[in-house]
Amino acid sequence: MTVTIKTGSEIEGMRIAGRLGSEVLDYITPFVKPGVTTGELDKLCHDYMINVQGTIPAPLNYAPPGHAPYPKSICTSVNNQVCHGVPGDKLLKNGDIVNLDITVIKDGWHGDTSRMFAVGDVTVQAKRLIQITYESMWIGISHVKPGARLGDVGHAIQQFAENSGYSVVREFCGHGIGLNFHEDPQVLHYGKAGTGLRLETGMTFTIEPMINAGRRDIRQMPDGWTITTKDRSLSAQWEHTILVTDTGYEVLTVSVGSPATPDRILSAA
Ligand code: MF3
Ligand code: CO
Ligand code: CO
Repeated sequence: MTVTIKTGSEIEGMRIAGRLGSEVLDYITPFVKPGVTTGELDKLCHDYMINVQGTIPAPLNYAPPGHAPYPKSICTSVNNQVCHGVPGDKLLKNGDIVNLDITVIKDGWHGDTSRMFAVGDVTVQAKRLIQITYESMWIGISHVKPGARLGDVGHAIQQFAENSGYSVVREFCGHGIGLNFHEDPQVLHYGKAGTGLRLETGMTFTIEPMINAGRRDIRQMPDGWTITTKDRSLSAQWEHTILVTDTGYEVLTVSVGSPATPDRILSAA
């Protein structure tokens, strides 16, 4: 396992890519309404990245081993879709929840971030799943500092999600990120405190828990990409790209439209 350490201008490159990734989410937010298709959202984001930002959408044609090239520029995961939902003709309707996952490349550096959106009026159950998943990501982030272990991060996320009555998807995890989309280390969203990689200043990785309202088991759709819950329960995910700093962490995927840090994180700091 090779975990790269970023310094100086490399960190500045990651900051820029992270902000740009988050700005794509800011840009697309007003378009996430009943009646839009996921394919239209993809096209809008694609054109914004290429023509306005001068960024490259990292998902487009991304082909990890065992996968056909990903055909679109963003991931759109609706309701019981866990992650890697492929944009297409699917119409968003009132009451849906959707994750939009954006990864941009700027000057070689990657910024990877996702948010949940409620389409019109959603149920209180869906709202709670979105909120608890957001807080679980932030509880994980709050454990990041030099000397902490990756198991501390995963354990905190798992404990909070499971105590809230939900389950944590095991098959997908956060990841190191930099000049590569997915690098070491793997950042599990479950685990045992005091175990795993020891964090060091200059590491950059994502935290991106996928939390299911029902059981944790998943299925892959015939498109070879879209992942759904096996029991068809709702699933939510949020993602930030994080830098380990001397004093703790810096969230790299921030922009003017980033949702606020949860109160429980601010009051603990
Ligand atoms: N952005 C996803 C992640 O958070 C990866 C998407 S890979 C794709 O790691 F090919 F589906 F785009
Ligand atoms: Co990611
Ligand atoms: Co992502």
